[in-house]
Amino acid sequence: MTYKFPVFKTENPKAKPDFSKLAFGRNFTDHMFTMSWSKEEGWHDGKIVPYGPLSLDPATAVLHYAQEMFEGMKAYRTAEGQVQLFRPDMNAKRTNKTNDRMCMPNIDEEMYVDAIKQLVEVDQDWVPNIPGTSLYIRPFMFADEVAIGVHPANHFKFVVIMCPVGAYYGSDARKLKATSIFVEDEYVRAVPGGTGFAKVGGNYAASLKSFEKASAHGCDQTLWLDAIERKYVEEIGTSNAFFVINGTVITAPLHGTILPGITRDSVLTLLRKWGIPTEERKLSMDELFEAAKDGSLDEVFATGTAAVISPVGRLVYKEHDLIIKDGGVGELAQKLYDNIYGLQTGAVADDMGWIVKVC
Ligand SMILES: Cc1ncc(COP(=O)(O)O)c(C=O)c1O
Repeated sequence: MTYKFPVFKTENPKAKPDFSKLAFGRNFTDHMFTMSWSKEEGWHDGKIVPYGPLSLDPATAVLHYAQEMFEGMKAYRTAEGQVQLFRPDMNAKRTNKTNDRMCMPNIDEEMYVDAIKQLVEVDQDWVPNIPGTSLYIRPFMFADEVAIGVHPANHFKFVVIMCPVGAYYGSDARKLKATSIFVEDEYVRAVPGGTGFAKVGGNYAASLKSFEKASAHGCDQTLWLDAIERKYVEEIGTSNAFFVINGTVITAPLHGTILPGITRDSVLTLLRKWGIPTEERKLSMDELFEAAKDGSLDEVFATGTAAVISPVGRLVYKEHDLIIKDGGVGELAQKLYDNIYGLQTGAVADDMGWIVKVC
């Protein structure tokens, strides 16, 4: 490691939760990483400290103008007990792309990954060892300048917190479950020229209204359509969307309105390696329904850090209720899941250079 930060250990370590009954995002580890940025000093005062509240002046810029961002990644425990990360350099790169859009300072990628590695190592006992569980890592940055008035801030804080999370698919980590998805044709998530490609809280705040609608329709998530024509598929909730038509795997292109998912990139890379045709292009709801009608729609699935691969068994769109693959799990979805989850947890050998060992 190039960067090494001072560690101030807690004198009151918490009791660990039952790793077999973890709720998402509720139990935080003993420590966190914090670092400050100012125009004069750049990034400084990076350190690992006991987890605890941040004290903010009521006039702190982020509370008013939402100049902030966040990331999401995981640390996994292998069957041999080692702890490892999956492509953390990609999170560092995405952070800097987000920060450029939000007028926030870049962080040196190596410093970013080293801070996370060191924090995970300090709290390594919090990485659960039950199949399907992991340690969720949440880096975030916000404008902590104390001033009212819209302008790019001159002071920022970078913080990393972590929480053990349960098995997304329950006790049998290999057994995927199909989801129901609501296709949103009223509200939009992102517009061309906006912040859709950036991981900023505002995108998620704007999505909540549709999440309420999805729940009211008995669905797990929203499938967003493009903001101009409400015609082309974009992404699903906090994941990217894939459609397999006639053996070709199609996903929306990275033109600025969808988040460039790290799982999305991993899926496309693996499919190309396996010789399966892929297309990053616009796909309309009309084309999708046509494919469903003529029997060429093989599978639909979503990709993201939380579930890795999430098969879609049902799409609710206007008056239509489309059942895909008899509402079950597609073969390709399962194969991709087995490979990526296998790589993350050390069951599949890493010939891609995607794994970063921590301890
Ligand atoms: C809006 C959105 N799209 C896609 C993704 C999937 O990205 P990743 O595969 O990097 O988790 C996420 C999750 O971070 C997301 O929030």
